Amino acid sequence: MIQNRIRNFVILSHVDHGKSTLADRFLELTNTIPKEKMREQFLDMMDLERERGITIKMQPCRMDYIFNLKPSTRAELGAGLVPYRNEVSGAGSYILNLIDTPGHVDFSYEVSRSLAAAEGAILLVDASKGIQAQTISNLELAQKQNLVIIPAVNKIDLPQAKIEETKREISDLLKIDSLKIFEISAKQGNNVEQVLEAVISLIPPPTGTETGSLRALIFDSKYDAYKGVIAFVRVFDGKIKQGARIFLIQSKTQGEAKEIGFFKPELTPVEELKAGEIGYIATGVKEPGKVRVGDTITIFGSKVEPLPGYQEPKSMVFLSIYPEEPDDFELLKEALEKLRLNDAALIFKPELKEGLGRGFQCGFLGLLHAEIIAERLKREFGSAPRQGFDSGGLDLVLSTPSVIYKVLTADGQELLLYTSSDWPENSQIKSSQELWAKVEVLTPLNYLGAVLKLFKNIESEHIKTDYLGAEKVELVYKVPLREIIAENFYDKLKSVSQGFASMNYGTIGWNKSDLVKLDILIAGRKEEALASIVPEKKAYQEGKKIVEKLKKVLPSQLFAVPLQAVVGGKIIARETISAKRKDVIAPLYGGDYTRKRKLLEKQKKGKKKLKERGRIKIPPAIYLKMLRD
Ligand code: GTP
Repeated sequence: MIQNRIRNFVILSHVDHGKSTLADRFLELTNTIPKEKMREQFLDMMDLERERGITIKMQPCRMDYIFNLKPSTRAELGAGLVPYRNEVSGAGSYILNLIDTPGHVDFSYEVSRSLAAAEGAILLVDASKGIQAQTISNLELAQKQNLVIIPAVNKIDLPQAKIEETKREISDLLKIDSLKIFEISAKQGNNVEQVLEAVISLIPPPTGTETGSLRALIFDSKYDAYKGVIAFVRVFDGKIKQGARIFLIQSKTQGEAKEIGFFKPELTPVEELKAGEIGYIATGVKEPGKVRVGDTITIFGSKVEPLPGYQEPKSMVFLSIYPEEPDDFELLKEALEKLRLNDAALIFKPELKEGLGRGFQCGFLGLLHAEIIAERLKREFGSAPRQGFDSGGLDLVLSTPSVIYKVLTADGQELLLYTSSDWPENSQIKSSQELWAKVEVLTPLNYLGAVLKLFKNIESEHIKTDYLGAEKVELVYKVPLREIIAENFYDKLKSVSQGFASMNYGTIGWNKSDLVKLDILIAGRKEEALASIVPEKKAYQEGKKIVEKLKKVLPSQLFAVPLQAVVGGKIIARETISAKRKDVIAPLYGGDYTRKRKLLEKQKKGKKKLKERGRIKIPPAIYLKMLRD
């Protein structure tokens, strides 16, 4: 297959605008998945993705397509759509490599990786929502990589679709004639084939020569117990055959191409992968850390320059994860290592905490990322069911999420901290700083008031307000990253705008902030997992919020349980869970007073003993509840 007959492309959009559904139609049109095997959002392979209706992982797929170049198609391509190059986009069969990408802000790192493997992108915009924040941020990423953009308005079948208005927004954004924008329904299939034909006509074929030395860029990986780490690659130069001795340039690691192949979308072995193609190489390497996304694979012994890698993903949210059963520590470690293979954005290191034992400090791209990893750990890496327990899942305890802080100590050290357990004594702290972010919110005009109020309720500085078209406003603010993460700004924005406002954010640097450690005591005992770092002026408000919430979620005990928020040894807020009353005398009929009294006395003594024994066991579900809402 000559390179002119290959097209590598991605589908980009804001979350839920229909990427996976459009991919489904492409899979059908190209007979990649027979109709009887088709199910909705086929490329969302994880159970979790299907349940939540979101794409978490990018998923490559190779499709074969016969391009007929029907005269009608040419006409339908629109007056402004000039095919890329007639000689390379003539009739015949083509290989189309599609990478389906996630749309949520937490996973934009996945998007940037898939872009490096492609030459073009379909930019999909939901006609009922119009352009949203990730439409813009993903487009900017694609433009930086010089990808050809094919714009399409999706969901034109919806009664509330605002097709013309959405096209106007896109043509303003891309500075193109609105005739060049496709109108499609990914669900019903309208005009979907034209978009596929535009991929062939408008996106350039890959460059690079088969005769040169092998250079293959790793854009993702997956662990296989038998074949070692499977690297997902885009071959830029040269070719590779099964059995070849390979070398990973940056990690200086040798391996053997135990198997190579394509994604159909399941792994399908082939003899050879050539320049321009997307596929996989089972490297035989057993240490996950050695096969890094962004590294270049070549043939052992050849001298080539590595391909430009990717930017390291930046962790925005940190939290500690502990196994509920201390014996599960090794299982948790193994599970995190395996997940990291598929998710270079996940970072972790071991830590030891009083009351919780051994666990890990973990870094995530955002709250949704953290939640998804916790859920995957539980589901995919459950221990064998223990006797008497129904669940085989890996039960976890999670600390409250935090951002990273900088502390300058009295003895001149600069500490970067994200866990409150490492926080120095007050007397040791000279000054503290926190990261600020630039937040861009896109909202329909009718929710502007509610969104402005949201910014007013948090620490924020207004930068600018722009009007997009007649009905949309872009607001740009500077905000402490803590306000976005710890306060779950994203969820609040969604709820005040009924899902219509959207946001994107990126860090912009450190600012001074007076931070303190807020401890939480349950029945007089410090609960390290609930401690957090807060600005001094917010300590009371935060402390009160936490103990009030704890009161609601903690089950009552046989004795009264005090809940206290403490800063530097001083109690700043307090609640009490009253004792659970068990009616010990209920089984007694009639009026044997002495027996009743005896039972009540016994109960009182029992309660006292329980209280003295002290610690109440907090179920992990409580930590999860505290984390989520
Ligand atoms: P993420 O991967 O989470 O970013 O979502 P996505 O962009 O892949 O969107 P997905 O394909 O999962 O579609 C989101 C929802 O929109 C699903 O309920 C689809 O059935 C629906 N949808 C997609 N395309 C159309 C369409 O053309 N018309 C209608 N009516 N619904 C559509």
